[in-house]
Amino acid sequence: MGGVSGPELASAVARAGALGMLCEFDALESADERMTNALAGADGGAVGMGFFGHRVQDDLATFEAAAARLRVVEVFWTTPDPLLVSRARSAGVALVAWQVGSLDHALAAQDAGCDFVIAQGVEAGGHVRGTQPLEQLLREVSERVSIPVVAAGGIATAESAAWAVDAGAAAVRVGTAFVATQESRAHPVYIDALLAAQSADDTVLTTGFSGGWPDAPHRVLKSALAAAEAFEGDVVAEGGPPGARRPIARFSSATPSRHVEGRIDAMALYAGTGVASVTSVPPASDLVAALVSRLG
Ligand SMILES: Cc1cc2nc3c(=O)[nH]c(=O)nc-3n(C[C@H](O)[C@H](O)[C@H](O)COP(=O)(O)O)c2cc1C
Repeated sequence: MGGVSGPELASAVARAGALGMLCEFDALESADERMTNALAGADGGAVGMGFFGHRVQDDLATFEAAAARLRVVEVFWTTPDPLLVSRARSAGVALVAWQVGSLDHALAAQDAGCDFVIAQGVEAGGHVRGTQPLEQLLREVSERVSIPVVAAGGIATAESAAWAVDAGAAAVRVGTAFVATQESRAHPVYIDALLAAQSADDTVLTTGFSGGWPDAPHRVLKSALAAAEAFEGDVVAEGGPPGARRPIARFSSATPSRHVEGRIDAMALYAGTGVASVTSVPPASDLVAALVSRLG
């Protein structure tokens, strides 16, 4: 989760025994620095990095470095690509995964040589490839794909994690709930908005926050979209490292990290339908422990 999952969060999740994911982008440090810091804090736990298929070609050096140094490299959004998978294989021993939103792409990920696939249901927070409810997608994918399937979208409790594993998932991917953890880089106003959300109906699937990434559906808090629509002006906030601050346009797809200043409430407050279960801001290790507490 760009802007949210820095080395502090990824390593805390890894130390707790889960897979902590970094994003290829973050305004604060280079990808190399974030890998180094996450690995240093992980105590030997598993750290991975996620990439966007439509951008990875511009930064293959980072992709290869991640495949050489980390446990997992993962690609999202585009059609699974066997050439990219073999590039990762040549660079290192990382497992290679693809996050997909359809059976066709899950089969393509398997054919491309991926080690596992993440099936993302339409309930997910952030950018959403899935168009089907997770239950339906997970059933279709687990019936047809022989590599392990990770379930993503709307999972924020021990009960929903256990349900997904019972329904055939080898593991679960959780995003939104980790935004509200102590190690998250999310802005406090963003975290408070997650805590205030009462139900899945407080989220909306939209293409509204399209700045920098047009026509890509994403799920956000309804309140954020309404605030952005009501905002008058072109620039809602300012972000970036000290000395290189940049304006953030209204309807930008940027995630509000705690280093952003301005109208955070009118930025893309990504949230999945499980947001109603986000009621506190625990250490990430407590959240990992809670999520796995009903797994056999
Ligand atoms: C704030 C936020 C940022 C995200 N950023 C990314 C990203 O950079 N790359 C990616 O592959 N998925 C990203 N996702 C989507 C997650 O990989 C995952 O599909 C989703 O969080 C699962 O649904 P949930 O949020 O309901 O748990 C993001 C999700 C959120 C909430």
